[in-house]
Amino acid sequence: MTLTFAIGAFGLSALMAGITYFTARQTFLNERQSAEQRQAFANAALVQNALRSPATQVNQLIESVDTLPGSRSVLRTGGQWYATSISVGQSAIPAAERALVLSGTPASQRFILAGSPQLVIGVPLPAVHAAYFEVFSLDELAGTLRQLAFALAAAALVTTIAGAAVGRWASSRALRPLGYLTEAAVAIAGGQLDTRVDAGDDADLEELAAAFNQMTANLQDRIEREARFTSDVSHELRSPLTTLMATVSVLESHRTQLAPRAQSALDLLDGDLRRFTRMVDDLLEISRFDAGSAELSLDEVDPGELVRQSVAASAPVDADGVRGPATFPVYVDPGVEGLRLRVDKRRFERVMANLMENATLYAGGVTKVIVEPQPPAVAYAPIPATAIRVVVEDNGPGIPESERDHLFERFYRGIRAGQRASSQGTGLGLSLVAEHVRLHGGRVWCEEGPGGGTRFVVELPLGPADDGDHPDGEHR
Ligand SMILES: Nc1ncnc2c1ncn2[C@@H]1O[C@H](COP(=O)(O)OP(=O)(O)OP(=O)(O)O)[C@@H](O)[C@H]1O
Ligand SMILES: [Mg+2]
Repeated sequence: MTLTFAIGAFGLSALMAGITYFTARQTFLNERQSAEQRQAFANAALVQNALRSPATQVNQLIESVDTLPGSRSVLRTGGQWYATSISVGQSAIPAAERALVLSGTPASQRFILAGSPQLVIGVPLPAVHAAYFEVFSLDELAGTLRQLAFALAAAALVTTIAGAAVGRWASSRALRPLGYLTEAAVAIAGGQLDTRVDAGDDADLEELAAAFNQMTANLQDRIEREARFTSDVSHELRSPLTTLMATVSVLESHRTQLAPRAQSALDLLDGDLRRFTRMVDDLLEISRFDAGSAELSLDEVDPGELVRQSVAASAPVDADGVRGPATFPVYVDPGVEGLRLRVDKRRFERVMANLMENATLYAGGVTKVIVEPQPPAVAYAPIPATAIRVVVEDNGPGIPESERDHLFERFYRGIRAGQRASSQGTGLGLSLVAEHVRLHGGRVWCEEGPGGGTRFVVELPLGPADDGDHPDGEHR
């Protein structure tokens, strides 16, 4: 729009300047030519009169002719040429002009002499067998025209700049509503469903803002309804599930009295019930995220200690129900020392438990867990850390690049997971991991591990956690 205005202003001002210049040039030249013609004819009459007297000295006569400043006289009489100036003589006058005048026709012509414009007016004087020429310099007129051209070019430039400025102002005004809507749409896409556009006193925006706000309100309403529905369903399922679990444990205690087929049926029932209970719990948790009612209960902790505790809490349990040591090392980078992380311990433990469980199910177990500062601590450039990264590595088959985008989606289960009978998952684990991490204002993603396995990286910001609104909303 700015460019269009600038081009329009330039085109118009260039056209106006061109018309003005050429009209003015023509007028000036015509005026000058007729003034000089009058003078040349008057001088020619004087010369003719003087030449009638045989006593006239031609040299003196030509010098005595009264000319305008900058004009020179050339006279042809008695087969001789006489001139008032050394530089402007017979040869300076164009041959065509000379021939025309000497043949008896008055004529005028513009020509260039030594780079400067000249006007020559020739008057035949047949009564005395002579011809009188006057050569006028048009330098002054050319100078005036140059000044005019310069002034017009400057005016065209100013008009173009003014046009561009007006274009810019008009476009920013015209596009302002679009800017507001874009901002609102970005906020809504980032999860802030209560965002509304304020039209202010902008009449152009009013209708659009009303429609946009209505759409957002409908969307928010619908999402909230769906979240409530999931939450209600999960709640309703819980009590019969509890009853069922209690029934199964009663049956478990009388296991020996059951027939072998009934025993294996009981095992199946038990497995499915556990899976179902966990799914209902996960759904309840997810519905809290969707309803926006998930809240952080923050504690200030030592990141290394936090990770060690979370790892120990998920260590394998032996036959007597005693938790053993972790089967993999936890490396805590020295750069983490002294840093304090504000974190919801329960949620962080869920994140770690999910990642470690996945590694056990799909990748033969965790190989190591790393806790490091971000940016990494280097001795020669002590940049303070802004985040903590917790990396969970495994040596499994890895996750194909094409799958990594979907991993954190709800109910997404990889191709491999479906083939494994051992896996009892529902595909909610990683989506919950992403939600927990996002609530902390952090992000989580997965990349290829050093040994071809998988690395899950959880990045949590240091300092006061914000309200979970990470700038890029990344969770991969
Ligand atoms: N460490 C890993 N190595 C290879 N594949 C993995 C790994 N972690 C997760 N996956 C793949 O990602 C999928 C999604 O994981 P997610 O934890 O969300 O669901 P799940 O484990 O199938 O079910 P849930 O955790 O809800 O019980 C898994 O089904 C599996 O295919
Ligand atoms: Mg899982």
